[in-house]
Amino acid sequence: MLNYTTLDETKIEYYEIIPASELPNGERLFIEIEGNSLVIFNIAGQFFAIADICSHDNGPLGEGDLEGFNVICPRHGAEFDVRTGKVVQLPAVDDIPAYPVQVRDGVIFVGIPKE
Ligand code: FES
Repeated sequence: MLNYTTLDETKIEYYEIIPASELPNGERLFIEIEGNSLVIFNIAGQFFAIADICSHDNGPLGEGDLEGFNVICPRHGAEFDVRTGKVVQLPAVDDIPAYPVQVRDGVIFVGIPKE
């Protein structure tokens, strides 16, 4: 299960990222947490975090175009739902990690599963 957004909160460690005001609608932010490369999207005022790596051939997924809630891998066109990490378009067949995002007092936090 790679959709960590539904994981029990006790199994998640939250990391402070940046003020939400610094990631406006339509923007994205690339970050590294505990050795994981992530990208955070602001889509219509909602924040979503996924792994910045395509499950097909390790493409730079975070650089892909968005279509609604789907991000399109710039390498061969696989698509993933940024809300769940679910693959929705070939050539990828495996889901990617999706991480929970919270905004607390105007600051973005991203949750990573505890070891
Ligand atoms: S690496 Fe992403 S579709 Fe091939």
